[in-house]
Amino acid sequence: MKKESLPVRSYKGTRDFYPRDMCYRNWYFSKVREIVESFGYEEYHTPLLESYDMYAAKSGDEVANEQLYLFEDKGGRKVAIRPEMTPSVARLVAARLDELNFPLRWYSIANFMRYEKPQKGRLREHWQVNVDIFGADEIDAELEIISIIKDIMEAFRADPEMFKIKINNRKFFNDVLVDILDVKTEDIKKISRVVDKKAKMDPEKYNDWLKEIGLSKEKIDLLDKIFSSNFADIVQMMHIDSKGARELYELFRLLNETGLEDYYEFDFSIVRGFDYYTGTVFEVYDTSPGNRRSLFGGGRYDNLVSLYKEKNITGIGFGLGDVTFQHFLEGHDLIPKTIYASPAVLITRFLEVPVNEYIHCAKQLRSENIRTAVYFSGNDKLGQQLKFAEKKGFSIALILGIDELKENKITIKHLDSKTQVTVDRNEYIDKVKEFLNSGLK
Ligand code: HAM
Repeated sequence: MKKESLPVRSYKGTRDFYPRDMCYRNWYFSKVREIVESFGYEEYHTPLLESYDMYAAKSGDEVANEQLYLFEDKGGRKVAIRPEMTPSVARLVAARLDELNFPLRWYSIANFMRYEKPQKGRLREHWQVNVDIFGADEIDAELEIISIIKDIMEAFRADPEMFKIKINNRKFFNDVLVDILDVKTEDIKKISRVVDKKAKMDPEKYNDWLKEIGLSKEKIDLLDKIFSSNFADIVQMMHIDSKGARELYELFRLLNETGLEDYYEFDFSIVRGFDYYTGTVFEVYDTSPGNRRSLFGGGRYDNLVSLYKEKNITGIGFGLGDVTFQHFLEGHDLIPKTIYASPAVLITRFLEVPVNEYIHCAKQLRSENIRTAVYFSGNDKLGQQLKFAEKKGFSIALILGIDELKENKITIKHLDSKTQVTVDRNEYIDKVKEFLNSGLK
């Protein structure tokens, strides 16, 4: 009977990262890290597992409920795999409220699990760069967060027409529903949940859902009219002085004043899926239609830290996901080929030469920051060793056979240009560097 093999595929909706994938991932994260740190942000990290209580408090929240990976540990505790970072980072802030000097500028790079239906742009495991400010009430914090987004996009050579930062405000959204559409306060949450899904939903289903909540045909039409109106027109339609509208005015003024007018637009349909947002909310979208899901999502949350401690501290920030962002970079051809760097030098081996000679050369090259590997077996023919070097993408093969050893020389084979030179041992490092810097690879 044939033995049943174990599956080699990773768990549904997760990805394995082979060395080539890690080249991309390290390049992507290090670029984002560089930008965020240039703004003075400090890195933190948290455990993959959190107590379920953290999410149980947030009933009605899709991610915290339907999509949570939940299990009981051997001690009978209910444990969740974090689906996002924001509740965790709020916990960290709450735990050291008295010691921390506010405002804080913090960031992290971590993976998250959500029980999603895997599809383009949506997986069960994804990575996010989370960037948050704690303890800054001023709209200047919004300005800084949006500026970071713009700088990250620019670092990847993205032009303003390739993406759009779409901005709204939760207070403004709620005020519009109550003031213009006469929606009952208790229905706001239900409506915002439907609006959050609007773009990905069949229009008929969207209408049916709103009707179920109690919106008449006239009100659904009015809501549609609001969606297609600009910010000033919606404010014109209002009868009350909305704090959310004032916050948006101020933010747009600051963005325009600092040269960011081409990067953002007001979008009333941006409400965000999480209940904790209380003010500004935003999402960043690829303008090419093949990549429909957001690249970044974020906003201001006033009451998360207060879930843990009496004192309140406001937070604002974003999560930048790796899945849609990779689609963005691929779609706009923004991933340089040079990120897939291979090791530079392979030292070939011959049994007649003491192994220590090779180890010594490798050490010398590594101390010059040249990535160097030594071939494992001296039994293999030189041709075989060189073939391996070419296949693996080494730029240079060093040949130190018994003849070279006697004459105190080394042969350097530049594999890309098929050039070969034999030099004195005290000159070989300079020659290797010369080949590597020749631009040929
Ligand atoms: P979010 O919108 O759920 O927000 O996620 C942020 C980003 O993570 C999204 O824009 C998307 O790129 C990516 N993302 C989310 N879920 C998935 C998934 N299942 N598969 C692939 N990518 C995904 C948050 O998580 C907030 N906690 C962000 C935040 C930080 N708000 C304030 N500070």
